[in-house]
Amino acid sequence: MRYPVLTAEEAIGLIHHGDTVAIGGFSSVGTPKAIPAALAAYAAEANRDEVTFQIGLVTGGATGSQIDSALAKARAVRFRTPFQSNPDMRRAINAGEVEYYDLHLSHIGQDVNYGFLGRIHTAIIEASAITPEGRIILSTSVGITPTIVRAAEQIIVELNQSHGDRLEGMHDLYTLETPPYRQHIPIFHVNDRTGSPYLDVDPSKIAGVVYTNERDHIAPFTPLNDTTRRIGQNVASFLLQEWQKGGIPRQFLPLQSGVGNIANAVLGALGADPNLPAFSMFTEVIQNSVIDLMLEGRIRFATGSSLTLSEDHLDLMYDHLDVFRDRILLRPQEITNHPEMIRRLGVITINTALEADLFGNINSTHVMGSKIMNGIGGSADFARNAYLSVFTTPSTAKDGLISSIVPNVSHVDSTEHDVRILVTEQGVADLRGKSPRQRAACIIENCAHPDYKELLWDYLKLSENRTGHIPFSLKNAFRMHQTFVEEGDMRKTRYI
Ligand code: COA
Repeated sequence: MRYPVLTAEEAIGLIHHGDTVAIGGFSSVGTPKAIPAALAAYAAEANRDEVTFQIGLVTGGATGSQIDSALAKARAVRFRTPFQSNPDMRRAINAGEVEYYDLHLSHIGQDVNYGFLGRIHTAIIEASAITPEGRIILSTSVGITPTIVRAAEQIIVELNQSHGDRLEGMHDLYTLETPPYRQHIPIFHVNDRTGSPYLDVDPSKIAGVVYTNERDHIAPFTPLNDTTRRIGQNVASFLLQEWQKGGIPRQFLPLQSGVGNIANAVLGALGADPNLPAFSMFTEVIQNSVIDLMLEGRIRFATGSSLTLSEDHLDLMYDHLDVFRDRILLRPQEITNHPEMIRRLGVITINTALEADLFGNINSTHVMGSKIMNGIGGSADFARNAYLSVFTTPSTAKDGLISSIVPNVSHVDSTEHDVRILVTEQGVADLRGKSPRQRAACIIENCAHPDYKELLWDYLKLSENRTGHIPFSLKNAFRMHQTFVEEGDMRKTRYI
C-alpha cells in the first residue's frame, strides 16, 4: 500500500467546518461508510449546543443511512445536492435547515466540473480493491466518482474488503472533457465499452486510505399489492401491443426503469410476459429484479450506475459471476443519464410520478407544491430524451383522499412536452399526437380513479375557453389541492 493508512477518526480530521465534501457512490450503494459515520458522530458532539460544524454535501444520488440520515440528525449539512431519499434529510430540508439544490442527475457531474458549486475540498470514495500499481477498482456503483476525484483538492479512499476482487472488470469509466474540447461519446450499443475498468487518480491527492469490511444496506422492498401489480401489467401490455404493431423495432429497445416497488412490478411483468422478446437495460439503477430476470434469460444485458442489490442478490450475482461478468457494466451517471446516449440508443423510459395533470405535466418531487419528497433524480434526463417516455402512478394516494390525476400539477418536473404515455392501475393514456383537450379527455377516461372522474370532467367543462389552447381556470387550477389541505379529502372539492 503506497498511501497512508488512516482510521476513520483520523480521516475526519482532514475535513473542516465550511468545506464542501463530495461523496462517491450511487443509489445508496458503493458509498463510503466509516468516514461519514465518524463525521456524523463528530458533528453531533460539535453541534450539541450550537451549530459549529457544517459541510456542503455533494453526491451522485441517494445515499445510505450512514450519510444522509446520520449527517442530517447531527445538523452537519448546510447545503445538499443533487438527490436524497432519506426521511431525516427530507425533514431537515423541509424545515429549512438544509439548503437543497434539486438537480438532474446528468447535470451534477458537469456542475462540479464547470466549477458552478465552488471548490470541492474533499472527495470520499469507496473502492473494492487497489491494484499494486495504485489503480482503484470501484465497488458496487460509479455515480460521479470519476468527476469528484478530478475536481477535489484531496481524496480519501475507503477500501471495502468485503468484495475482494470480484468486481474487477465490471466498470467502464469514461470521463467527459469540458467544452469546447468535448467529443462525442463512442457508445453505440448498450454493451459497448469506451473507458477503463480502473479509476486513475492523481496519487498526490490521496490523503489516506481507511479500511472497511461492510456490505451495502438497501431498504427492503414492500411486497407487490394489487395496484402496483396492475400498473406493471398495464405497462407490459402496452409495450407488447406497441411492439406487435411495429411501433418498437423487432429486436426491442433498451429499457430504463426507475427505482422502487412500481419499477420492480413493471420489470417483473415485462419479464414474465413470454410474448415479449428478451431485452436489455440502459438505466441508472440495477436492482434485484434485473438479476432474477437475467438468470431466467429474460434480460440480455444491463448497464447502469449502481448495483442496488440486497445482500442475497449480491451473493447470487457473485455465485454466478460467469453469467453476470459479461452482462453487467457499471458506468458514470454522466454516461447512463446522458441525453446523447438515451436518444441514440432509443431508450424506453419508465418513471414514477407523485401526480400528473390533465395535460401530461408531471410532479415527481413536491407534495402539494411545497414539501420535497426525494428529488427529480434522473427521471427528466430520461423522459426528455426517450424513444418513448412512460410515467406511472397509482391513481390515488393516501387511501383515496388524494387524486394523483389533478387539473394542474402543483409543481412541474417533467413537462407535457416530455411525456408520451401515462399509466395508472386504471389503464393507459397514450398522449402522442394529441392536443391539450384531447390529452385531458384521454387521461380522465383511462387513468383517473372512478371517484374523481366527474370532478375532473367538471374542471374541464368550467375552464373551457374556446379562445385558448389549454383549458385553464385560474380560480380553480389548484382547488382540489386546496380542498385536501383544508378538508383532508380532495373528493369534497367544490369549484368556484
Ligand atoms: N400527493 C401527496 N402525497 C403523495 C402523492 C400525491 N399525489 N402520491 C404519493 N404520495 C405519497 C405516498 O402516500 C407516500 O407517502 P408515505 O411515504 O407517507 O407513505 C409517498 O408519497 C411515496 O409514495 P409511493 O407511492 O410509496 O411512491 P414511490 O416509492 O413509488 O415513489 C416517487 C414515488 C415519485 C417519490 C419516486 O419515484 C421518486 O422519487 N421519483 C423521482 C426520482 C426518480 O424518478 N428517480 C428514478 C429515475 S432513474
